[in-house]
Amino acid sequence: MNDEQLHFFQNWFKHHVLTFQEVDPLHQRSIDMKKEHTFRVCAAIDRIVSDLGLVENDHRIASVTALFHDLGRFPQYQKYRTFRDPDSENHAKLSLWELNRYRVLQPLDFSERQIISRAIFFHNRLRIPENLDPQTLLHCRLIRDADKVDILRVMAEHFRMEESLRNPVITLGLGADMLVREEIYRLLFERQTMSYAKLKTTNEFKVLQMSWVFDINFRSTLKVLKERNDIGKIAATLPDTPLLREALDFINGYIERRLQS
Ligand SMILES: [Fe+2]
Repeated sequence: MNDEQLHFFQNWFKHHVLTFQEVDPLHQRSIDMKKEHTFRVCAAIDRIVSDLGLVENDHRIASVTALFHDLGRFPQYQKYRTFRDPDSENHAKLSLWELNRYRVLQPLDFSERQIISRAIFFHNRLRIPENLDPQTLLHCRLIRDADKVDILRVMAEHFRMEESLRNPVITLGLGADMLVREEIYRLLFERQTMSYAKLKTTNEFKVLQMSWVFDINFRSTLKVLKERNDIGKIAATLPDTPLLREALDFINGYIERRLQS
């Protein structure tokens, strides 16, 4: 891929998003949110890739993956008015559907197209499948890390916002109950990848997001997380209990150990 092709994709994305404009400002807010998320994931992936010192072509492949990873969010919202995949469709699949529909990646080599498509396809899976080839694995790991950096940022901002200003689509319609069941913290201590299906309340959703730290692939990403402290900001909006403090110590200890190794 060359720089010209990368610029073409960036322009295509900007124009394509305009076709999803909404009349109602509330709906437009959801569209803008995903557009801004995309640009910030692009910035996050840039930073991780630069820190890792990857070659130029991997940098461009990572940028295109970041640019298109959530492309399916726009038709998803237009059609279903939700970002909840279980109530609509898997948004990663929709991203690929949209790319194919407009033959966007057509100018690229088959192998580059395949890496980008697979990285997009696996970006929202609970786990990356084993036995992917090294290039695909690299790009799967990059997009998953960059995406998590920005989702944690969105959540930290969202939960600190006054309730009336919050966009309810962000918390996937979970209950407002304060309770976080002990079993949810236990999953965090076991570093288990939690599925959304297990959650009952918005506060449990916050604990799930804190546990993402154990699924971060690169130290470069952990540096960003430590610097931004979005996990700490999310934790500060949870009921202050001994289990929460233990969880935070556990997470911070984990980050420090990995940064030193
Ligand atoms: Fe996504």
